[in-house]
Amino acid sequence: MQPIIALDFPALEDATAFVRRFDLHQPLFVKVGMELFYASGPQIISALRAVRPLNIFLDLKLHDIPHTVERAAYQLGRLGIQLTTVHAAGGQQMIAAAKRGLLAGAADAGLPPARLLAITHLTSSDQAMLTTELQIDVPIASAVQHLAAVAQAAGADGVVASAQELPLIRAVTAPDFLVVTPGIRPADAAVGDQVRVVTPAEAARLGSSAIVVGRPITQASDPLAAYRQINQEWSTAHV
Ligand code: C5P
Repeated sequence: MQPIIALDFPALEDATAFVRRFDLHQPLFVKVGMELFYASGPQIISALRAVRPLNIFLDLKLHDIPHTVERAAYQLGRLGIQLTTVHAAGGQQMIAAAKRGLLAGAADAGLPPARLLAITHLTSSDQAMLTTELQIDVPIASAVQHLAAVAQAAGADGVVASAQELPLIRAVTAPDFLVVTPGIRPADAAVGDQVRVVTPAEAARLGSSAIVVGRPITQASDPLAAYRQINQEWSTAHV
């Protein structure tokens, strides 16, 4: 999969102006998060696609009772997106409900279904938070590994995780299980608020299925050149 550009912009116009800069013939995969979706509504998907062909990762991190998640996922399934997310902490039944909803929504719209990724523990959670606030009394790495296995058993197609967690996750999941990794920085880029970062080439070598890159591309003085360099680093590390 090609690198996924996180479109972390406040408004639809910023996102459409950004994707318009890329060559129409170059395949592009973008991530739409809560900010943009809540600002613009579901029409963000068709509005972006009116500019150019796009693969879309709609990262809304669903988490509710299984019935509610199934109905919400049904609506997302009808949008024709390629990837979306649920919190694995919602449990096996909730993840399975999300998967059913996505499949049903896509089938009713006559579209290929989106693949479902589970969020294990957010990279903003640390051991102290897990132990004292959530009273989860195991090392955070074990908790992440366990939730990845739960997500796979429930029918998720993959997880979102830090590249540093790849070996642990790969050890308990099938080879075709997707592990999509944010927290990517080219060797010469500013780290920003990301704490644990790896380069595109390191992510590839660790077995990442796809990298998510935001600010190193969106805030670059030349976003096209930044994307080209990251894409090159990512794809050449695979061979
Ligand atoms: O700008 P940057 O490359 O840090 O953006 C990374 C993107 O990946 C953001 O949209 C962020 O919300 C998302 N993300 C992350 N860490 C996670 C899950 C998602 O950075 N654990």
